[in-house]
Amino acid sequence: MKKSLEEHAARFDDVAGEYDDSQNDTEEYRACVSLVVEHAAPEEGDTVVDLGTGTGAIALALADDAEKVIGRDISEGMMERAQEKADEQGIENVEFGEGRFREPNVEEADIVVSNFAMHHLSDEEKREAIEVIAEMGPRRFVLGDVMFFGLPDPDEPFYGPEVDDPSTVGHLADVMTDVGFSLVAVERVHEQVGVLVAERAEEV
Ligand SMILES: C[S@@+](CC[C@H](N)C(=O)[O-])C[C@H]1O[C@@H](n2cnc3c(N)ncnc32)[C@H](O)[C@@H]1O
Repeated sequence: MKKSLEEHAARFDDVAGEYDDSQNDTEEYRACVSLVVEHAAPEEGDTVVDLGTGTGAIALALADDAEKVIGRDISEGMMERAQEKADEQGIENVEFGEGRFREPNVEEADIVVSNFAMHHLSDEEKREAIEVIAEMGPRRFVLGDVMFFGLPDPDEPFYGPEVDDPSTVGHLADVMTDVGFSLVAVERVHEQVGVLVAERAEEV
């Protein structure tokens, strides 16, 4: 991680009020949100965990179809905005609270999702985070994020080398399969943005 958790949290606290407007200007971000929501596809009775939930773009979009959605983040400011949006929309089955990728503060999930957040972690930290996700026992894990389909290009708009640490698609796929998932879909949104869908491999 190129900044501490506290630095990342403070950075997002500062922009929480403008975050939705600024992100929604980006076609690739909107595409990623749609794909993560589409692939998550919760069913009645499912508990969904959204890691790095921010202002709740994914968590709130999934609430209608899930039994319960748990949003976790390190930025109080982002989660306050998420809760305001839930209240405005009358959504009652979403809960937001402190949790980190490697200490999510959640025991179990049917589906885990994460969008545009895990790229703050180093390759090794992402491995630890995905191990923790697998331990929650979800049948599906959907990761939308900045990730390299080709060579890293710091001049591309999705990648700020001073704060971001995206992985290659290969690294993410390796880790997912190492912890017992099968990769069932790869959506390339941009050379540096994609959505990976992993499902628990059948026991043999
Ligand atoms: C770019 S925002 C994405 C928010 C949301 N998922 C979305 O799609 O709009 C990244 C979020 O990840 C959170 N974050 C960064 N590092 C984190 C960590 N280690 N654990 C949990 N959340 C983290 C930040 O606080 C921020 O709210």
